[in-house]
Formats: sequence, C-alpha cells, structure tokens
Amino acid sequence: MNGTICAIPGDGIGREVIPAAVAVLQCVAPDLRVEWAEGGYKTWRRTGEALPERTLRLTREADATLFGAVSSPLQPTPGYQSAILLLRRTLDLYACVRPVRSLPLASQPATEVAWQTTDTEVPRRSEIIGGNVALSSAVPYHATSVAGPQMTGRPRADLIIVRENTEGLYGGGEESDGERAVARRVITRTASTRIARLAFDMARRLGRRRVTIVHKATVLPQTDGLFREAAFAVARDYPEIVADEALVDSAAMRLAGRPESFDVIVTTNLFGDILSDIAVIHGGGLGLAPSANIGEAAAVFEPVHGSAPDIAGRGVANPLASILAGAMLLDHLGRHAEAITVRDAVGAAIAGPIRTPDLGGAATTKEVVEAVIKEIR
Ligand code: NAI
Ligand code: MG
Repeated sequence: MNGTICAIPGDGIGREVIPAAVAVLQCVAPDLRVEWAEGGYKTWRRTGEALPERTLRLTREADATLFGAVSSPLQPTPGYQSAILLLRRTLDLYACVRPVRSLPLASQPATEVAWQTTDTEVPRRSEIIGGNVALSSAVPYHATSVAGPQMTGRPRADLIIVRENTEGLYGGGEESDGERAVARRVITRTASTRIARLAFDMARRLGRRRVTIVHKATVLPQTDGLFREAAFAVARDYPEIVADEALVDSAAMRLAGRPESFDVIVTTNLFGDILSDIAVIHGGGLGLAPSANIGEAAAVFEPVHGSAPDIAGRGVANPLASILAGAMLLDHLGRHAEAITVRDAVGAAIAGPIRTPDLGGAATTKEVVEAVIKEIR
C-alpha cells in the first residue's frame, strides 16, 4: 500500500511535534512518502505568503496532510492570514472532527497514578476514526489514581464532535457603526445536509448508536430551524442510528458533567467550536487532542493545540496529539491496522513513566517519541 502525505510543521512547537509524528508514521508505515512544506507566520515574514503556492499544490496532490500549528500576531497585521484558516477555506474542508475519549491522567504527577489491568473497564471497539486512545490493546488500560478518583474529566467520555466549518457566524459578515454592531449568521440547507451526512456516515461506519443534533432553534428558529430540519431529514436514511437533539446550552452542561451521555454530536460552526474545546478536557487536555479537517477532495489532520510560544524551542512539547492526529490520518488512508498500532503504542507509552511536563512528567519530546517507537517495534 502506498500513499503520499504532505507535512506542514508551521510555527513554534509545530516544528517539534510534526517531525516527531512523522517519525512515528515512518516507523509504522515505511512506504509512506512524505513531502515537507512550509507555511505560517515565519514563512509569511520571510516570503510574504503564509501559504505558498507550492504548499497548496502539495496539499492538493497528497492523499492527506499533517499540519502542526501556526502563530497569529496579537496586533492587526495587514496582509497576514492564518495558514490553517486559508487551507480550510481553499480546500473547502467543511467538517471539523474531534474524537474524545477519557484519558484520566493529564494533570496527575506520574507517581499518583497507578495503571490497572482489568477487563471490566471501558468497552473496547475497533474504530475507524478513533479518539486519543488505543482501542484494541492487548493490555486494556485504564488509569486509577491510588489516591482516589482524581481523573481529569470524566472517566467514560467516548464521543466524536462533528462541527460544520464553512458558515454560521464565521462568514465574515460583520458590520459596526461604532454604536451598533451586527454579525450575520448564514445557514444553508446544502451545508447542513452535507455535515449531517458526514456525521451519520461516520456513525454508521464506526458502529456508533446515537447522533445528537445540537442547536438553539428555540431562539434562532430560522437559521437553526433550517439546520435542525436538514439534519433530521438526513437521519431518516440511517434507521439503525438514534437521532436526537439538544439545545446548545444544556448540551454544554451535559458535556461538561456527563460526557458519557453523548456518542456523536453534530452542530453548527460556533457551537461546535465551543463544545469541542469543552470536550478536550475529558481527553486529557491539549497535549493529547487530535482533530481532522475533512473536505470532499482533501483532508488535513492536526493537533488541536496552537504553536505554544511559551514552551517552543525547549524540546518539551507533548508530541502525542500530533502522533494521534497521524493515526487519524492513517485511518483516512484506509490503513486501519497501522492506525491501531499507533494508538496502542501511545496508550502503552503513557501508561509508563515517560511523559512530558503537561502530563505531570519530566520527559522531553524526543524521549516520548522514542518510547512510542519502542512500543511499535
Ligand atoms: P496553545 O495551544 O498554543 O497553548 C496553550 C497552552 O497549552 C500553553 O501554555 C502551551 O504551552 C500549552 N500547550 C499547547 N500544546 C502543548 C503541547 N503539545 N505540549 C505541551 N503543552 C502544550 O494556544 P495559545 O497560547 O492560545 O496560542 C498560541 C499561538 O498559537 C497563537 O499565535 C495562536 O493564534 C496559535 N494557535 C494556532 C492554532 C492552529 O494553528 N490550529 C490553534 C490555536 C492557537
Ligand atoms: Mg478553537
């Protein structure tokens, strides 16, 4: 099996975690061709382009792209646009997909966490787009703090958030006369149907049982009324999947407190942005959160985190979010066995003592990558 991927490290820790993730990919799939490309703020400073033509061409030609992170200056910078936003728009990456499963040790010092081997814990299921954990480990892993239930987030979160990524409040239609500002929220039947189709197809493929349509049609009967109607119309084609709905405010509360009550969530752009950041907590934080941007003709996989200027250059960034984004990329290429191998290796590696500071350890990026590769071999 062959495949070509485009790797764009970007700025800051992107330059540390993407080479790390590529090293893991090349270990598990040595035939994979990797085209390195540049993009981001530094590239813009040097060349005047945040996303050079060559990079764009490579992302179009590749079977998938692995993207690190880019920095955005705090002050308005005429002419600069974020490379990831440009990629999403240019490649029409209309779906943002974030899988989240509980990884209950993120803020725990390694010494406080004992790993239990048990077969009564989280049900394991081989997934096509899995979350941030190994789903087929020979050794089931589930952390239990010896000091009691000190998990980060809830232990049984296992959900996927599918966010519409092209319209809603992100269309740029804002105006202000200084006293009164107005934002336009555009919802179309076409985009709503397309995102709902992707969510239900994914649920079917993964053997998921429920898709929750999240909206606020009580207050936004036109825009969210249309989204809701389009999503339920799609649901009719998936009789084996339960389609239900939740208002976004109560969905947010449930997601924070009872994430296990969700399976797949499909929602509009801004609501999805907020809900998916809440969900990251349950997966062990930014250092472990991967995501996918999916379009008809291209797909870009990235860690959820940004360029982390506060730790960039110190060699201590957690590479696992990018490595798990790499596993999602392998799934996208149809290479499920390799994807499972990567997730299993990540699960096994974090069960050990080698963790970066964000997970309570003292290991470097390099040491974590070596630990993951050792598990693969
Ligand atoms: P951030 O995600 O870069 O960092 C937030 C905090 O989490 C920092 O303390 C950072 O050190 C820590 N952190 C993030 N990833 C980590 C990792 N892999 N290992 C260990 N610690 C990690 O978000 P922030 O600080 O809001 O933004 C920094 C820059 O990144 C900004 O210029 C922002 O515009 C950009 N950004 C880019 C994104 C992208 O390219 N998709 C997404 C989010 C932010
Ligand atoms: Mg966000």
